[in-house]
Amino acid sequence: MPTAEPLPPTLRTQIDGGICTIVADNPARLNAYTRDMWEALPQYIRKAEGDPAVRVIVLRGAGTKAFSAGADISEFEGNRTGAEARRYDEINHEAFEAVARATKPTIAMVYGYCFGGGCELAMCCDMRWVSDDAVFSIPAAKLSIGYNPRWIRPMLSVVSGAKAKEMLFTGRRYSAADALAMGIANAVVPSSELEAQTRKVAEEMANNAPLSIRAAKEAVDELVAHPENPDMARLDRFVEACFESEDYAEGRRAFMEKRKPRFRGR
Ligand code: COA
Repeated sequence: MPTAEPLPPTLRTQIDGGICTIVADNPARLNAYTRDMWEALPQYIRKAEGDPAVRVIVLRGAGTKAFSAGADISEFEGNRTGAEARRYDEINHEAFEAVARATKPTIAMVYGYCFGGGCELAMCCDMRWVSDDAVFSIPAAKLSIGYNPRWIRPMLSVVSGAKAKEMLFTGRRYSAADALAMGIANAVVPSSELEAQTRKVAEEMANNAPLSIRAAKEAVDELVAHPENPDMARLDRFVEACFESEDYAEGRRAFMEKRKPRFRGR
């Protein structure tokens, strides 16, 4: 019998009911991200951002064994040594930035292993819905990888400084229960329910007014990034856009007519 060639590691998307799911598909390596996958991720995010039908972006790994075991270490010898190491970090950083700066809500749906760059990616999302078998770790110190300081900020918007240090200094593994206690997980659910529960919260957001969500997202991100001197004038403009929107008129009408509003993001 001919043996099937393994499919090359890749990203793929599916769009369903306003939810765009971006899937990291590298099952032979627990959905580790190759350099090509890091490079492709910003394009997938841009596409979802530009598609008016997309209201929420969900990141996941193929199958149920791993969100992602991080960067594909098997490539490091060629791609992440010497002069190439800096370029690799830049590509990696662009991927994290694309997710962290997405204007639409982002959810990491985490089954199983969520390690290294996978864990960082999950922390760049707005929230994390987590299966009860999930394991989180940033084992950079176990590989003598210098953790890019730019990646600490997303971590610090999720966990405390003390916990970020603990994660990075020890490279320890954290269970789903630990992740909930640390604030990494928004919710922990049985593995068999993760997809349905993630979909439920994604649909809640997808049905709400996009401009309201955008204003809230911009405000939280700005206040976390610049707590001392947030650009309040910029944040006020997002709020004004809500009050000036057709959706606000629709929201008021729908309430009075006792029906569900149909928001269009304008
Ligand atoms: N890069 C490349 N390959 C990886 C990988 C990674 N980040 N993580 C796992 N794999 C591969 C393994 O080499 C193994 O391949 P093989 O079947 O050809 O031997 C396969 O995926 C399954 O992994 P395995 O280690 O056998 O599974 P496990 O359940 O025993 O352990 C982990 C899972 C995640 C604990 C372990 O694979 C691991 O520590 N991976 C590295 C995680 C890491 O350091 N990430 C940060 C990268 S910067």
